[in-house]
Amino acid sequence: MTTPTAQIVDAAAYAQAVEDAVKAAAAYYTGGTSPLGDDAYDQLVRGIAAWEADRPDEVLPGSPTGKVAGGAVEGDVPHTVAMLSLDNVFSPEEFTAWTTSLSRRIGHEVEQFSVEAKLDGLAVAARYTRGRLTRLITRGDGTAGEDVSHAIGTIEGLPLELTEPVTVELRGEILMTTTQFEHANEVRTEHGGQPFANPRGASAGTLRAKDRDYTVPMTFFGYGLLPLPETEKGLAVQLGEAAHSELMDQAATYGVNTTATTAVPGITTTGVEETLARVQEIAALRADLPFGIDGVVIKADLAADQQAAGAGSRAPRWAVAYKLPAVEKITRLLAVEWNVGRTGIIAPRAVLEPVIIDGATITYATLHNPADITRRDLRLGDHVMVHRAGDVIPRVEAPVAHLRTGEEQPIVFPESCPHCGSGIDTSEQRWRCENGRNCHLVAALSYAAGRDQLDIEGLGATRVVQLVDAGLVTDLADLFTLTREQLLDLERMGATSTDNLLAAIAAARSRPLSRVLCALGVRGTGRSMSRRIARYFATMDNIRAADAEAMQQVEGIGTEKAPSIVAELAELAPLIDKLAAAGVNMTEPGATPPAVTVVDADSGAGSAETADGPLAGMTVVVTGAMTGALEKLSRNQMNELIERAGGRSSSSVSRKTTLVVAGEGAGSKRAKAEDLGVRLASPDEFATLIAAFLE
Ligand code: IVH
Repeated sequence: MTTPTAQIVDAAAYAQAVEDAVKAAAAYYTGGTSPLGDDAYDQLVRGIAAWEADRPDEVLPGSPTGKVAGGAVEGDVPHTVAMLSLDNVFSPEEFTAWTTSLSRRIGHEVEQFSVEAKLDGLAVAARYTRGRLTRLITRGDGTAGEDVSHAIGTIEGLPLELTEPVTVELRGEILMTTTQFEHANEVRTEHGGQPFANPRGASAGTLRAKDRDYTVPMTFFGYGLLPLPETEKGLAVQLGEAAHSELMDQAATYGVNTTATTAVPGITTTGVEETLARVQEIAALRADLPFGIDGVVIKADLAADQQAAGAGSRAPRWAVAYKLPAVEKITRLLAVEWNVGRTGIIAPRAVLEPVIIDGATITYATLHNPADITRRDLRLGDHVMVHRAGDVIPRVEAPVAHLRTGEEQPIVFPESCPHCGSGIDTSEQRWRCENGRNCHLVAALSYAAGRDQLDIEGLGATRVVQLVDAGLVTDLADLFTLTREQLLDLERMGATSTDNLLAAIAAARSRPLSRVLCALGVRGTGRSMSRRIARYFATMDNIRAADAEAMQQVEGIGTEKAPSIVAELAELAPLIDKLAAAGVNMTEPGATPPAVTVVDADSGAGSAETADGPLAGMTVVVTGAMTGALEKLSRNQMNELIERAGGRSSSSVSRKTTLVVAGEGAGSKRAKAEDLGVRLASPDEFATLIAAFLE
């Protein structure tokens, strides 16, 4: 039997492999958790050795093969001041112990801390001579790093010219934002390369790669500002005496990007409690950030405290990294399942070797669509990077190409619908059963009967299966013509259940148009979009009469969505007619049809009504558990209520948000509202505000 070896395909994959191996080894020796198992690590090192054997000149410092004595390679640039690492803490207790030992060392309590996100990228030193960016150097082994000046000009936030002609060194992290990472992988795969597994690897590979015939942007965040030997004396003294927070302000004044531009700006705190509170705030905001962070860095802010604390050979004693749980892990892709949804969309889902990410065992992850699988070149048996942040469904980011053994198998795409065997419409990125929403009638009907749609109590999935199997229901409209006798004939249907179900179906006939529209399951129109369409057009006839241009007048519907909504409504015409004939309501209470379209200056979208009510002109976000008068309301019902009271409901907090209703357990949205200074209300306060609109 041959021992598997990871195949490294190019210099970038090699650089990433070295990074991964170093990280895994460090985690192993410091007792942390490594994403790589022993076998994977051995394979990786064998792959690195195989690559290096052919290219002895390209061996990187820090390679686990130890081919470069002393770490630094010829041509590396020495750092003027060592680029140190940080010690880690993992809990409030460990952090408290760290502050105690720091206080003991400096002889008094730390006056002020600086608290910043720990950016998940690569450390670099950027040297500016008389205001001009002249050299960019990686951290390397801390004493000398690789000259990566060829990347100058591709890094946002690292200006070629500072606002002042100073000679200084900026230290900070280079990373890719989520958008930059997706773009980088698109461009890379278009050029025949393997996609990078995660933004960190992508930045490492991109930063080191020379002579590529394409460039992809990255982003810099400064977290250090220091003088160089050539720095003018006065400035050198000033920088040496400044607090860390002052240095960051100074860097921003020079035009350099810092965390001050983000939703998690660096702040100063006093004492353990306030500092830990900020750590929690940053942790809560993590999932919504457009870039990766893997912890929070806490520094003694004042220069005097830093000097008194000093530094060890590996890390300063005045700073520490409070590590947050990993959101990415490597595991194996075991299989791909193809599930058909209620609209007939055939969606691939990854079956994974179970892996624990941030406390949850992950066995499945989304895989977007077939084109995406091809683009990422995923194969069965691959090691894949899985990402899970907050409550969002985990996703497979990319294969870890250098861990390939050659035994991986291609993913087989279905040739016919895995649910009903019909043909597949592959004309769009998301494949769809040719039978459309009739393919998975049970899923479509269960969705339509759900609480946020027609809200038919007693019509759960089991009951729907019975009705479909008995041939009593072939589409949504058939529900409304079911007879007492038909239902009584079904197994486990007594007189009481039958009467209750019939009453629930009868009640569903008079639901507002927005609910009926939502129940139809038009792709691209969920609950809030259905409400917006219904409120804008007021009647189903108006909706059906709308062409793509008219449809675009609804806020949130653009040039791409409008024609597909119009086309789908046309596809649904026979069903809508049948529903109307069965007496289902087709109007939206309180809405008036758009006589003349008024174009909203802000959104460019038309508005059929000038809303009034206590929430007129307000954008409201609801988060956490509702209590009191609002306790029984679903999130959808809360949003309906907001819109009835003249407001606009939204699910994310931004500068445009006017009010956040924060119930028990509210987390990141509340924190963001506090950060942005958005008004907060408790469920009770909100209930009082809209009392007249509570049913
Ligand atoms: S300060 C002497 N601040 O974390 C102190 N580092 O694990 C040097 N990092 O090598 C670092 N965000 O690459 C500092 N806000 C931040 C940071 C940060 C990320 C990285 C940096 C460093 C590593 C240590």
